[in-house]
Amino acid sequence: MPTLFCSRHLPADALALAHGRATLRLPPEDRHLPPAELGRQVEAAEGLVCLLTDTVDETLLERARQLRVIANVAVGFDNIDVAAATRRKIVVTNTPGVLTETTADFTWALLLATARRVAEADAYTRAGQYKEWGLTLLLGGDVFGKTLGILGLGRIGKAVARRAQGFGMRLLYHDAVRDPAAERELGVVFESKAAILAHADFVTLHVPLLAETHHYIGEPELRAMKRTAYLVNASRGPVVDEATLVRALQEGWIAGAGLDVYEEEPRVHPGLFACRNAVLAPHIASASIETRHRMARMAVENALAVLEGRRPANPVNPEVLGDEDGPRGAAGA
Ligand code: GLV
Repeated sequence: MPTLFCSRHLPADALALAHGRATLRLPPEDRHLPPAELGRQVEAAEGLVCLLTDTVDETLLERARQLRVIANVAVGFDNIDVAAATRRKIVVTNTPGVLTETTADFTWALLLATARRVAEADAYTRAGQYKEWGLTLLLGGDVFGKTLGILGLGRIGKAVARRAQGFGMRLLYHDAVRDPAAERELGVVFESKAAILAHADFVTLHVPLLAETHHYIGEPELRAMKRTAYLVNASRGPVVDEATLVRALQEGWIAGAGLDVYEEEPRVHPGLFACRNAVLAPHIASASIETRHRMARMAVENALAVLEGRRPANPVNPEVLGDEDGPRGAAGA
């Protein structure tokens, strides 16, 4: 049986899928493996199930001579050097679809919490500061009827748009490709990025992290936003220039930010801790019980499919599968 190494302890229902189909190997303790240790573990593995916190780069792949599949337990796969994997005919898979609604829910949790100062209100109440009701106590920004700018109208961006309809919002979007079907179905209006930054009351980011989207929101963009506007980021940290965002929050270029992701996770820019107008979460947008189980099962199934010589449901480099030889060593692919 092929060896499948999981970099972390996945839920039991996901691990059970490998029973009788692969020799499952797990690290003795459920903690992030330093790159050298991960490299040692994948040396003898044909399959790797990894998390977005595992860096799968050229150095790691150089050691992983047997590897045929890398199954990421995430929809984003910027932690993996896909080009390097493709050169070695290693299939890379992700977990699209199963986390869309959960991530959109959390985007809205951040948006509402930021606009209505929920985290501040909670801290205030717990600290025993609620002594007297006040007409101007913890005033926030309205959400209903405002303009939402969605940067990146993929699955998650669309799910965010659907929820915004219930809030009577005007919906603007920008994406590399225009989506006429979404425009008809969701009432989203295509605009330039500049127009969205200038007009939106809320800007929410749903682009993947690519070379072109690194610091997609930096100083010019933050300065272009309305002083009353809020930024929400549940995509990837490096999409936003975090140090500049700290200045924008401190100096009032924008009203607030709801963040689930950071440039150098798990490090959070220390300046953000002092920003009361920021709501900070530890990369949990897809973290519902049901969704995290679905993601883990999907990743294990993707890995097993390749190891069993079948086409995985979610390849991100399908050109490897298209090769005449199929993935390295896969029987009957
Ligand atoms: C989470 O951030 C994911 O990409 O699934």
